[in-house]
Amino acid sequence: MSRRPSGLSRRLGDGAPVPFTGSLHPKSRPSPFLSIGLVLLGAFLIIGYLYNSASGRDSFHTLRFQAVGSSCTSEIFQALPYLKNAYGDSMRKILHVGPDTCTVVSRLLREDDTEAWGVEPYDLDDADAKCNSLVRKGIVRVSDIKFPLPYRSKSFSLVIVSDALDYLSPKYLNKTLPELARVSSHGFIIFSGYPGQRTFKVDELSKFGRPAKLRSATWWIRFFVQSKIEENEDAIKKFELAAAKKHYQSGCQIFHLKSFI
Ligand SMILES: *[C@@H]1O[C@H](CO)[C@@H](O)[C@H](O)[C@H]1NC(C)=O
Repeated sequence: MSRRPSGLSRRLGDGAPVPFTGSLHPKSRPSPFLSIGLVLLGAFLIIGYLYNSASGRDSFHTLRFQAVGSSCTSEIFQALPYLKNAYGDSMRKILHVGPDTCTVVSRLLREDDTEAWGVEPYDLDDADAKCNSLVRKGIVRVSDIKFPLPYRSKSFSLVIVSDALDYLSPKYLNKTLPELARVSSHGFIIFSGYPGQRTFKVDELSKFGRPAKLRSATWWIRFFVQSKIEENEDAIKKFELAAAKKHYQSGCQIFHLKSFI
C-alpha cells in the first residue's frame, strides 16, 4: 500500500517528460510543473468530491424532511404574512391542528397580540422540554382528531390544520371537518399536500395509522360542498392578492373555509 504512491510519482517523474528530455529545452523541465499541476488537480478533485457529497447529503436531508410529512406544517410559516393580510384581527386566537404543533404554537406565540393553542393528533414521542411545558400548561393537547375536539364551540377565531387530514378516510373527515368549523368563529384553513407530492417512510406509517392520501383540489372542493362547508371567498381573494404581490407560491394546497354561523 505505502509503496504505490512513491512508485506512481516515480513513474510520472520518469515517464512524462520523455518527449521533452535532452538538451533541446534544458530550461523547460516539465516534471516539477507537471507534479505540481497534478497535485493541484488532485486537490481540486478531492475538494470537489467533498463539496458534492456534503451538498448531496444536504439535499437528501431536505428530501427526507419533506418525506416525513412535515412540509405543509412548515409551509404555515411561509404563508404567515399573507394569512395576516387575509385575516387581520382574526389571527388573535389561533388553534393549530397537526403534527409538530409545538413548533407551530411556539412560533405563533412570538407574534404580537396572538394567542395560540395546539392539537397534536399523534404521539409526542420526541417532545423537547419546551413542548412538554406547553403540554403541561394545557396549551398543547394530544387528541385523536377522529373524535370531537375537546373545545367549546367558537373557542378560537381561526383554526389552521396541516398535514393531518391527509390521513383521514372520508368517513372520519365527515366528522372532523364540521368539528373544525364548530370550534372556530372566523374560519379555518387547511394546508394539504398535492397528490403525488410525497412518499412516506415505513416507520412513519405506524405513527399515522394509514398512509397519507393526498387528494386533488377538485376532490376537496367536492367534499366541502357535500359537507355543506363553504369556501371563504373574501379570505381567498385577500390571501391571493397579498401572495401575488410578493411572488409567493405555496408548495401545498391551501383552502380557506368558513366556520358555522
Ligand atoms: C359523508 O357525509 C355525506 C353527507 O354529509 C354523505 O353523503 C357521505 O356518504 C358521507 N361519507 C362517508 C364516507 O361517510
